[in-house]
Amino acid sequence: SKKAFIFDLDGVIVDTAKYHFLAWQKLAQELGIEFTPEHNEELKGVSRVRSLDIILALGNVQASQEDKNKWLIKKNEEYLSYLVDMDESELLPGVINVLQFIKEKKQLIALGSASKNARPILEKTGILHFFDAIVDGNDVANAKPDPEVFLRAAKLVKANNKNCIVFEDSVAGIQAANVANMISVGIGDAEILHEAKYNFKDFTFMDLSFIEALLD
Ligand code: BG6
Ligand code: MG
Repeated sequence: SKKAFIFDLDGVIVDTAKYHFLAWQKLAQELGIEFTPEHNEELKGVSRVRSLDIILALGNVQASQEDKNKWLIKKNEEYLSYLVDMDESELLPGVINVLQFIKEKKQLIALGSASKNARPILEKTGILHFFDAIVDGNDVANAKPDPEVFLRAAKLVKANNKNCIVFEDSVAGIQAANVANMISVGIGDAEILHEAKYNFKDFTFMDLSFIEALLD
């Protein structure tokens, strides 16, 4: 039967983690909160709302819901300003090859992302057409490590969980894939992503025979 390859977006397909960081850092600065790249690791794969709570906790800042909503909008506007000129050059190395290979092999491709900005990013980078299903931050109630986003993607492409392979750069995402009984593949630092079944530094380190071996 067909395999479904479920891709996370930020940090797996596109190098947007740096823009999320810059936008959060700007907000943190305005609020007088110190926010470093190390702190940012904790925000990977985490929803927008939860990210703000983590940053406010760093600075021991209490805030009304009204203020939080205002800051969330501000951060997203700043983030979106970095995406205006986005094109295929921002795709992470090796991604296109893997997408093409999976298509050639007539297998399924889905997106499983926490981002509410996923669709425009897939459009701008010219890869929207690869996806048989898209599940993003607009579709789910429970953020990773809850498996909801991946379970929904599997359902949309009508694949059994055990026939799903998840590519993730966040600890929360690897945990979500494991909870869903899917094959978890860490893209990034193997030490940080040690709970993944397989690890690759990036897609250029993944030989296409790895994909081939997962098919039957
Ligand atoms: C995740 C990112 O993919 O999406 C997080 O790793 C981000 O950094 C989250 O906060 C939500 O994204 P967005 O685009 O809806 O703010
Ligand atoms: Mg990610």
